[in-house]
Amino acid sequence: MDLGAQYAAIGAEIREAVTGVMASQQFVLGRQGAALEEEIAALCGVRHGIGLASGTDALILALRAVGVAAGDEVILPPFTFVATGSAVSALGAQPVFADIDPATFNLTATTISQRITSRTRAIIVVHLYGLAADMDAIREVAARRKIPVVEDNAQAIGATYKGRPTGALGDAACISFYPTKNLGAYGDAGMIVTNSGEMDARLRTLRNHGQASRYDSVEPGWNSRLDEIQAAILRVKLRYLKEWERRRRLHAAQYSKLLSGVTQVTTPHIPEHCEHVFHQYTIRVVRRDELQKFLTDRKIGNAVYYPIPLHLQRIYAGLGHRTGSFPNAEQAAAEVVSLPMFPELREEQIERVAKTIAEFYGR
Ligand SMILES: Cc1ncc(COP(=O)(O)O)c(C=O)c1O
Repeated sequence: MDLGAQYAAIGAEIREAVTGVMASQQFVLGRQGAALEEEIAALCGVRHGIGLASGTDALILALRAVGVAAGDEVILPPFTFVATGSAVSALGAQPVFADIDPATFNLTATTISQRITSRTRAIIVVHLYGLAADMDAIREVAARRKIPVVEDNAQAIGATYKGRPTGALGDAACISFYPTKNLGAYGDAGMIVTNSGEMDARLRTLRNHGQASRYDSVEPGWNSRLDEIQAAILRVKLRYLKEWERRRRLHAAQYSKLLSGVTQVTTPHIPEHCEHVFHQYTIRVVRRDELQKFLTDRKIGNAVYYPIPLHLQRIYAGLGHRTGSFPNAEQAAAEVVSLPMFPELREEQIERVAKTIAEFYGR
């Protein structure tokens, strides 16, 4: 991705926003953060937004707010960024992996229900690459057992499922504003969005040393507060998000059209009821590693998200999983590659990428 192109377009507005914060001399939990919380909650169609220091903190605090404690089990996909799992581990809880659907790369109600036990305390659903998981079916399974659902919405802000935005599809949703995300800060930042007033109040306490009011700490908390400079930058970028996501979808459609004749490539599946925001444009291919080298040699950016599923990472060696434990996640990890994707991408760049891939398989 090329963040420089974006900065070239909106740099003046960003600098003005940053200067405004400097002039206000209010740097943590101020007016910008409060306004951003309202705007992101509105975008997600929920009542509350709680600004935090990162998406990882959002996961840790959301899990805690839905009641996860040491020794509990939390279900999550193994095909995700490690933060989804390490948030569970940070609370002393046990990650319980459930396999993904090969078509969408996301958890399904069926794979989740196979992993529910009497100790399951929460389910984290990741909307990977910018595509919502099948939340109605998942919510139904969770509701039957009264298990809270936390959305890991780090990659899918702005995506929709049956007309409803991600972020409004679970009990709480976690957003990352890491710089490369579709809505990225100029440093770390994150947010939880929720409809629950009770969770909102608790999270505001937890993010600030467990203080219900100044110097009155009611439970052990963190310092995970949103910084005003990041909030001000995000508010500028938020004005462009819809248009950027429209362009991402156009680029994705162009890639998929150009690659449709290459039989070794499977382009992203978009369920009819979903609006994908293409945080990544990720294809499945044969001879993936060779293709990567071919692209890299021709200076075409490409990356694998994620080459090692969580159950095979050293951090989780103690859980006793092995190759074959979650075959769909393992196959995805072996076959996926993400292509250049950012709003400012030009048609001829997409053509060149697609042509190079076709050339690789035509040889
Ligand atoms: C799926 C997923 N979950 C969690 C995170 C963690 O977010 P952050 O980097 O803001 O802590 C990320 C991004 O980095 C992510 O992609």
